[in-house]
Amino acid sequence: MFQKLSNLHKKCFPKKPWSADDFRDLKQSGCEIIMSENGFIVYRIAVDEAEVITIGVNPEKRRLGIASAMIGIIEKNLKNQGVKKIFLEVASNNIPAQKLYENCGFKTVGLRPKYYDGMDAILMSKEL
Ligand SMILES: CC(C)(COP(=O)(O)OP(=O)(O)OC[C@H]1O[C@@H](n2cnc3c(N)ncnc32)[C@H](O)[C@@H]1OP(=O)(O)O)[C@@H](O)C(=O)NCCC(=O)NCCS
Repeated sequence: MFQKLSNLHKKCFPKKPWSADDFRDLKQSGCEIIMSENGFIVYRIAVDEAEVITIGVNPEKRRLGIASAMIGIIEKNLKNQGVKKIFLEVASNNIPAQKLYENCGFKTVGLRPKYYDGMDAILMSKEL
């Protein structure tokens, strides 16, 4: 599973690929990981809030609703676990991801200047 995740992550984030060990460490540190043939989402729960750590979809399978479906699945899981809010950070130049989150009902709630290698991060959240 971790090697498959790493292979898919490399397709989604070619400049910053995560290794199988990186994913193993995330899982061991308490993160939840959902993976399908063409997509993955990693998130973490802290009491009644959850953070989306990353999400990616195979470049050949984008705009088919895979990311939205994965977000829908975790929202259902999180609600059942009593989580009240999801938050995440997205690079200010990552328009596809921002559009995805807006489309899923996330709102911009803050900005972290120069968060990713000099690039601002937009903080978004959604009440469940
Ligand atoms: C962002 C990403 C996960 C979206 O995955 P996806 O499966 O293509 O997303 P969906 O098909 O569920 O898209 C849902 C909606 O998001 C918006 N959206 C998604 N990609 C978009 C794009 N390239 N341009 C504009 N809007 C986009 C649209 O509103 C879309 O609905 P529509 O197709 O009906 O117009 C994918 O582009 C990806 O893996 N990118 C690289 C990794 C990355 O940047 N991850 C996010 C890190 S914060």
